[in-house]
Amino acid sequence: DKNEQDAEKLAAARAAVAFVKDGDFVGLGTGSTATFAIKEIGERVKAGLKIKAVASSLKTAELAQSYGIEILDLGHVSSLDISIDGADEFTEDLNLIKGGGGALFREKIIASLSKNAIVITDTSKKVKQLGAFTVPVEVIPLAYQYVFDQIALLGGKGKLRETNGKAFITDNGNYIIDADFGLIAAPAVLAQSLNQIDGLLAHGLFIGLTSKVMMSQGNHIIIFD
Ligand code: A5P
Repeated sequence: DKNEQDAEKLAAARAAVAFVKDGDFVGLGTGSTATFAIKEIGERVKAGLKIKAVASSLKTAELAQSYGIEILDLGHVSSLDISIDGADEFTEDLNLIKGGGGALFREKIIASLSKNAIVITDTSKKVKQLGAFTVPVEVIPLAYQYVFDQIALLGGKGKLRETNGKAFITDNGNYIIDADFGLIAAPAVLAQSLNQIDGLLAHGLFIGLTSKVMMSQGNHIIIFD
């Protein structure tokens, strides 16, 4: 149930935040699990921890700043010591689907910049094969139909993400297509094919970007690395 899941998210967040140390430059994720980590880091900052951070979404930046965490502009960063983020699905070989919250592009940049990219999850996120969760794809609006059709050519059934009957708009001013590819036999190959589509800013397949997944199960943490 939700309480147990939240307890798992909090436990995973605490275990990951223990790796953050004085002087670190930290990448902050987005979503309900990452929020637990941001609050934990925030409490440590209030207690004197000295860090700098970048945020993967406007929402995360706002939350972090409310704790006094210093947020720098992601556009001028060339390396991060550590990042902590959630995922929508992961496999034991450390591939992920992310972007359920629509923050995939900045999350991907942060994971790519990070020397230690930690993903925190409860048990519900672990899968044998990616793809039950649809792949979020961020699209420049004027390329929407083109990208939609290219996704179809790759075998994906796309759906424009909407909230309250209106197109969902990302922090970068773009649309999200949620693409159903069924179970994905070769995620790295699909990721490469998606990368080649013009007008597609980023997709939610995170291949080889994760240092370790810390999954909380009951009262212990299982680490995949
Ligand atoms: C945000 O864009 C996503 O990539 C999140 O990391 C993902 O949706 C996980 O969110 P929860 O922690 O809320 O499940």
